[in-house]
Amino acid sequence: MLKPSLFLFGLASLCTHALGSVTVYGQQGITIPSAIASTDAAAATAATSDSSWISSFAAYNNVSLTPPPLPDPLPSFQFGIQLLNNAQNVGGLSIQQKGSFMGFSIEMSVVEQIDRACSLVGKNSTFIQVPFLNLLATLASRAGIVTIRVGGNTQETATLVPSLPNNSMIAKDKQDASNPTQTPVLDFTAEMLYLLANVSSLVNARWYLGIPFNDTANLRLQIAEAAEAILGDKVLAFQVGNEPDLYADHNHRPQGYNQTDYFNEFGIVVNAIQNDAQIPTRGNLVAPSVQGGWSLESVFDTGFLNAYGTDVSILSVERYPDQNCAAAFPGGNFGPVVNPQDVFPKYLNHSSGQGIVSGYLNGAQVAIGAGKEFMMFETNTASCGGFPGVSDSFGAALWGVDYGLQMAYSNFTGALLHVGGQDVSYNPFTPPPTNLSSVKQWTVGPIFYSTLVIAEALGTTNTSRVLDLQANGANAYTPAYAIYENDALARMVLINFMTEQNGQGAYTATISIGGGQTGEPNETPSSVKVKYLLAPSVAEKNNITWANQVRTHSVDLI
Ligand SMILES: *[C@@H]1O[C@H](CO)[C@@H](O)[C@H](O)[C@H]1NC(C)=O
Ligand SMILES: *[C@@H]1O[C@H](CO)[C@@H](O)[C@H](O)[C@H]1NC(C)=O
Ligand SMILES: *[C@@H]1O[C@H](CO)[C@@H](O)[C@H](O)[C@H]1NC(C)=O
Ligand SMILES: *[C@@H]1O[C@H](CO)[C@@H](O)[C@H](O)[C@H]1NC(C)=O
Ligand SMILES: *[C@@H]1O[C@H](CO)[C@@H](O)[C@H](O)[C@H]1NC(C)=O
Ligand SMILES: *[C@@H]1O[C@H](CO)[C@@H](O)[C@H](O)[C@H]1NC(C)=O
Ligand SMILES: *[C@@H]1O[C@H](CO)[C@@H](O)[C@H](O)[C@H]1NC(C)=O
Ligand SMILES: *[C@@H]1O[C@H](CO)[C@@H](O)[C@H](O)[C@H]1NC(C)=O
Ligand SMILES: *[C@@H]1O[C@H](CO)[C@@H](O)[C@H](O)[C@H]1NC(C)=O
Ligand SMILES: *[C@@H]1O[C@H](CO)[C@@H](O)[C@H](O)[C@H]1NC(C)=O
Ligand SMILES: *[C@@H]1O[C@H](CO)[C@@H](O)[C@H](O)[C@H]1NC(C)=O
Repeated sequence: MLKPSLFLFGLASLCTHALGSVTVYGQQGITIPSAIASTDAAAATAATSDSSWISSFAAYNNVSLTPPPLPDPLPSFQFGIQLLNNAQNVGGLSIQQKGSFMGFSIEMSVVEQIDRACSLVGKNSTFIQVPFLNLLATLASRAGIVTIRVGGNTQETATLVPSLPNNSMIAKDKQDASNPTQTPVLDFTAEMLYLLANVSSLVNARWYLGIPFNDTANLRLQIAEAAEAILGDKVLAFQVGNEPDLYADHNHRPQGYNQTDYFNEFGIVVNAIQNDAQIPTRGNLVAPSVQGGWSLESVFDTGFLNAYGTDVSILSVERYPDQNCAAAFPGGNFGPVVNPQDVFPKYLNHSSGQGIVSGYLNGAQVAIGAGKEFMMFETNTASCGGFPGVSDSFGAALWGVDYGLQMAYSNFTGALLHVGGQDVSYNPFTPPPTNLSSVKQWTVGPIFYSTLVIAEALGTTNTSRVLDLQANGANAYTPAYAIYENDALARMVLINFMTEQNGQGAYTATISIGGGQTGEPNETPSSVKVKYLLAPSVAEKNNITWANQVRTHSVDLI
């Protein structure tokens, strides 16, 4: 019955559990099935009032995988976590994080999926998708604001035009404008910006946009000029260059295009902005958005920060831990098609998130030193649409929570989950396939839940500092995090990546706060609220339980 899981609990009080209780003097065991827990009544109310309407419909692929076997060796299924209450007594905490840490990155071409008679954000400024607003509202209600980037590969060739045929807002010249090796040409009208502005008037959404960078001999700054006028302070920053380290590979620049070339081209845009009176806001650029082909350090080595430190507010990277391009673009020289079952296990352990962030720890320190934000500007389970059965499974939700919190712990300041077209499996949300939106509901991808969990875990004070507890001897299948808010322990998130098999797989964590040899008084509380995110297995695609999952556990102090 106890399943892969995750939970987070609040420490206004301590926590006990639902299953075969283990009561130890002054301490309580918490059995971790599939769950999230949260601390306070407000969160509980929000959870029931504002997520219960979400129903996850089957995604469009029917691939359903087998949960991986239990790890060998098995982790310990009973372990203790000793915490301190006062942040000043704790080493290794992250910088202060916002509840809005996780946001979304929407491929520009799918804001309005005109060729599929379907739209994600809306069709024009007066036709906004209500489910989209509701989904944003669930996050904004927990995080204060929700941040959304509109961009991606398609931003590079985007051109603002006065009007388009049939009153369209966006037009593109290729069916699959997200194919990285093609060069889609995308035209849009100011209506798209009015649409975003109208979304922001209904829900507290803020936007990141991209300035086209395909041709620095022929700049098109109109998106920034128009966005400043139409969106005002609802636009947070402008990205200049999307994955420049892939330009040469994707035939968007000559072979040999390197960091120096990017540095020089970036300067052309910076100068043009400085000379453009219609772009009054300065110092709000996002760069260099490298994907891993170039290290961040190799870009810094060009003198990038010295030259452009005042122009850039956000240092950015983009990363997917894998790619499924062979399946997405057959015949595209992407090698053999990957079997999703084979890659499933690597998403179901703590090493995945740790591995992704490991190359960015120095970059984060550089950002802190330079007073910049440090963002994962585009990410998800796997590029080219993700892996069917993996990216749209409960396992992806657990992965998203662990990876997101690992980024927060590692001093990223935000991360944006990519949303692609209808044929991808990693989407946090996908509108119905045709004009059936009046009769079919949207599909909410499991990974969407990870954004809600992280928003609740980090809260709304902007003071949350995250600690990876290396729980259970740093076992990869049972990660746990503590969140310190206003310098005191506030919440925890515990994750169980295992699916119970033959009666094994659930674990019991016994948590104590202060007391004993810690030098702090015993602050283990007498009751705690625990909130669970549950599914029958990591492979589950539809039955993910979230609403009404807050339980208050009192503790029998002996
Ligand atoms: C999944 O969909 C494919 C293609 O539509 C179909 O051939 C197959 O039978 C389906 N499999 C299951 C288990 O429903
Ligand atoms: C906006 O889109 C809707 C739905 O397609 C359409 O009925 C309406 O006429 C459009 N409005 C404008 C101003 O184009
Ligand atoms: C959206 O924008 C248009 C201007 O394009 C405006 O007329 C309209 O009232 C706005 N609000 C909504 C909710 O549509
Ligand atoms: C850049 O994109 C614009 C607009 O799509 C296009 O007209 C132009 O030819 C492109 N430039 C290069 C060098 O590809
Ligand atoms: C405009 O709409 C008509 C009718 O739906 C369609 O036949 C035509 O192809 C559209 N034109 C463009 C340029 O999309
Ligand atoms: C990039 O290539 C140019 C021309 O070959 C060279 O001068 C420059 O040093 C290279 N920059 C880097 C960072 O390798
Ligand atoms: C854990 O994840 C890492 C990184 O993705 C992967 O290399 C490793 O194989 C995974 N471990 C297992 C047991 O699947
Ligand atoms: C995050 O930054 C803080 C403050 O600079 C530092 O103490 C901490 O070690 C960093 N965390 C990681 C994982 O690098
Ligand atoms: C979808 O579009 C088709 C063709 O335009 C139309 O016949 C049909 O009634 C529409 N369905 C709905 C539910 O709007
Ligand atoms: C948190 O930061 C956001 C800006 O991202 C700001 O709007 C909000 O007011 C801050 N909240 C608090 C409690 O300071
Ligand atoms: C959904 O999953 C829960 C456990 O997470 C289980 O108790 C319930 O029976 C499942 N419902 C269905 C319809 O499979």
